[in-house]
Amino acid sequence: MIKVKNLKKTFGPKVAVNGVSFTVEKGEVLGFLGPNGAGKSTSMRMITGFIPPTAGEVTIGGHNIVDKPIAAKRLIGYLNQIYMIDDDEARKLSARKPIENKVPLGF
Ligand SMILES: Nc1ncnc2c1ncn2[C@@H]1O[C@H](COP(=O)(O)OP(=O)(O)OP(=O)(O)O)[C@@H](O)[C@H]1O
Ligand SMILES: [Mg+2]
Repeated sequence: MIKVKNLKKTFGPKVAVNGVSFTVEKGEVLGFLGPNGAGKSTSMRMITGFIPPTAGEVTIGGHNIVDKPIAAKRLIGYLNQIYMIDDDEARKLSARKPIENKVPLGF
């Protein structure tokens, strides 16, 4: 479902993400953990098509995020701190909800 292969991002001389590869199958839950500055947000920005990778490839449901961004982004729901909801509401939510409600992606 999600395939990330040799993903890399550099900002000038700064290497933010250096060759990340993993696969997430349908129904699988993945924790994406790392220390501050490890490159988690930069990876997520590339995986969701906000910024292009310097190198590597991401496919979402078989759609390349760079070549087929609309088809790929249709399959992505993203919840983060700026998704303003109270605790009761949060308990009812899943990442599927923004897809159903067509909430735009944001970081
Ligand atoms: N736009 C940018 N320009 C230059 N350097 C950047 C940029 N974005 C991120 N970086 C650098 O890339 C590295 C990875 O940053 P990133 O924000 O992806 O880490 P993170 O794992 O999300 O960290 P945190 O846990 O603090 O959120 C850091 O050294 C950061 O300073
Ligand atoms: Mg971050």
